[in-house]
Amino acid sequence: MNSHQLETSLKALTYPNLNRTLGELKLISTVKVTQGIAHIELLTVSDDSYLTVKKAIEETFASSFEGLSITKKGAVQKDTHYGHTATPNNRAPYAKNVIAVTSGKGGVGKSTVSVNLAIALAQLGYTVGLLDADVYGPNVPRLTNTDLEKIHWNEENKIVPSENYGLKIMSVALTTPTSDTPLVWRSSVAVSALIQFLEDVAWGELDFMVIDMPPGTGDIQLTMAQELPLTASIIVTTPQLVSADDVSRAIVMFQDIHVPIAGLVENMSYFVAPDTGMRYDIFGSGAGERLSKHYSIPLLGQIPLEMSIREGSDNGEPPVALGSETQKKYYQDIVSKMLETIAFNP
Ligand SMILES: Nc1ncnc2c1ncn2[C@@H]1O[C@H](COP(=O)(O)OP(=O)(O)O)[C@@H](O)[C@H]1O
Ligand SMILES: [Mg+2]
Repeated sequence: MNSHQLETSLKALTYPNLNRTLGELKLISTVKVTQGIAHIELLTVSDDSYLTVKKAIEETFASSFEGLSITKKGAVQKDTHYGHTATPNNRAPYAKNVIAVTSGKGGVGKSTVSVNLAIALAQLGYTVGLLDADVYGPNVPRLTNTDLEKIHWNEENKIVPSENYGLKIMSVALTTPTSDTPLVWRSSVAVSALIQFLEDVAWGELDFMVIDMPPGTGDIQLTMAQELPLTASIIVTTPQLVSADDVSRAIVMFQDIHVPIAGLVENMSYFVAPDTGMRYDIFGSGAGERLSKHYSIPLLGQIPLEMSIREGSDNGEPPVALGSETQKKYYQDIVSKMLETIAFNP
């Protein structure tokens, strides 16, 4: 067997107990046969997987050569070069489209909107991942009823995402011992944790990656725009003016850093009293429409303030999956509008 033949056979060898070949997993670095000895260099990420692969190769090829020299190439150097927003890196080549849900302000319903829009996309048959990038206030696990899950790794040393409601879900909350453990991280640490979530989670192939962003216009927003080609962002606002002020800053930031804006979602728009049917504009009205006109971005929808949206969310029962037909429609209509607005890869 010559070097080329050995390389071909090695690449076709399956990784023990996994449905993937060493070639698919890109674990073979170099292969050289000289004087009956096969020199094989592996690109395994951990010692465990190195030993597993080494054993599998020895079992299969020991009798074909006088000797086998199987070594491990030094750990793959992660690219630490941060991209530029005009020509971003792509840390998530497995995702066809990336949608960032953001706002200038906390508490406006970004996480609730992210979760329900992600599920609405999954309901249309898309494969969807949901990344909780709000490292200091990670709510996604509670909203998706995955808060009791703990982090674990698969055989390729990739983090296994949680799954529920048809989504693959990753949040720093999975890495903390209890849900009330605060993360006291400098933003540089938060940023590298998120990059790890993009690179080291077994997301599989995704049609959409939805990112629940932290509030504001800081490091994390900038990093996501530099490290990922964002297909579009969705900006969540409430109807009141202070919210609109903060949201304006988010809009301008995204425009500055060349992230396309799919549109605005006005959340907690109004309240209809269940007993009298009277409508109350609790937070005032019109911010969504005004912002939409002022910045020429579409208003994708208005979601009322409803007690059962809050209750369902707190209980990990997202309204788009388990709410009333009317509630499902709020989110599903926003997704249909969004898909009409953005240029996405089908
Ligand atoms: N349309 C709505 N009606 C009622 N409560 C809502 C609605 N949207 C969000 N909430 C509630 O408001 C609170 C803040 O929402 P959340 O999504 O966590 O905001 P953010 O991620 O922007 O901080 C949560 O308790 C959530 O259940
Ligand atoms: Mg949140």
